[in-house]
This record gives sequence, C-alpha cells and structure tokens, in this order.
Amino acid sequence: AVERTLSIIKPDATERNLTGKINSYIEAAGLRIIAQKRIRLTRDQAEAFYGVHKERSFFGELVDFMVSGPVVVQLLEGENGIAAYREVMGATNPANADAGTIRKDFAIDVQNNSVHGSDAPETAAVEASFFFSEIEIVG
Ligand code: CMP
Repeated sequence: AVERTLSIIKPDATERNLTGKINSYIEAAGLRIIAQKRIRLTRDQAEAFYGVHKERSFFGELVDFMVSGPVVVQLLEGENGIAAYREVMGATNPANADAGTIRKDFAIDVQNNSVHGSDAPETAAVEASFFFSEIEIVG
C-alpha cells in the first residue's frame, strides 16, 4: 500500500550541508517528498516529539542535540513508504548500518545519526500532524 512517513534531517546533517545529498537517497529509494520545511525545533517541541523516549538515559542529550541547529522536516510518500524509508536510512547506530544507506554514508554516531523516520503507520500519522497541516501537503 502507498504509505506516508515523517522524516527529519537532523542538526548533524544540516550543519554539514547534506540536505540535498540525503534527499537524493530518498528519491532514489522511490519515495516522493510531498511536504518539506527547514525549522529550528523549540525544546518543548523536541521533548514532545520524542516523548516516548523520556525515560531513556539518552533523552536529555537527544533533546539538546535536536535543538542545537536547524532540522528539515519532511513528509515522504511511496509504496510501503515506512519500511522503504527505514531501509534506506539504515540501522539507528551507523556502525551497524548496511552499505549504501544514509546512516552508513553520512551519520557520525548513534545520536548524531542524520535522519529520523517513523516506525509504524500509527506513529507516522501522529508525527506527520505534529509538523504539517493538510494545506502544506501536496501529494
Ligand atoms: P531516532 O530514530 O530519531 O530515535 C531516537 C533517537 O535517539 C535516535 O534516532 C538517536 O538520534 C537518539 N539516540 C541516542 N542514543 C541512542 C541509543 N543508545 N539508542 C537509540 N537511540 C539513541
């Protein structure tokens, strides 16, 4: 089925001017960027977005990282879009990522891992509406 997934190009990647290179991996994977904006997350937004991780040991550092610079939030659409994006992103820890993935080619470490992608249809819908209204989405 055609699915939408929420992507974030993270501060470690925007800082190194990798937005276009990452977008080329996304498009080569058959995903269409149907909404996109460059923003700076507030601390409240970062804490809310990653709320499921708030009990994790890395939560504070994660929030500090996500507010440390611009991010590019995107809505991607394609056949099996959630899995397709997870495949081209590669493993969370770039040390474990397969060759040819975004994280293998660009990420620095498990925190500075260049991109986020939704993990399931339910979270994709919640994450999409966190950043985009219907008029911003052009499928
Ligand atoms: P992401 O897929 O956006 O989901 C949670 C994020 O927390 C993850 O990518 C990393 O940026 C960050 N993170 C930092 N340390 C860890 C860790 N040990 N395990 C998983 N995620 C981590």
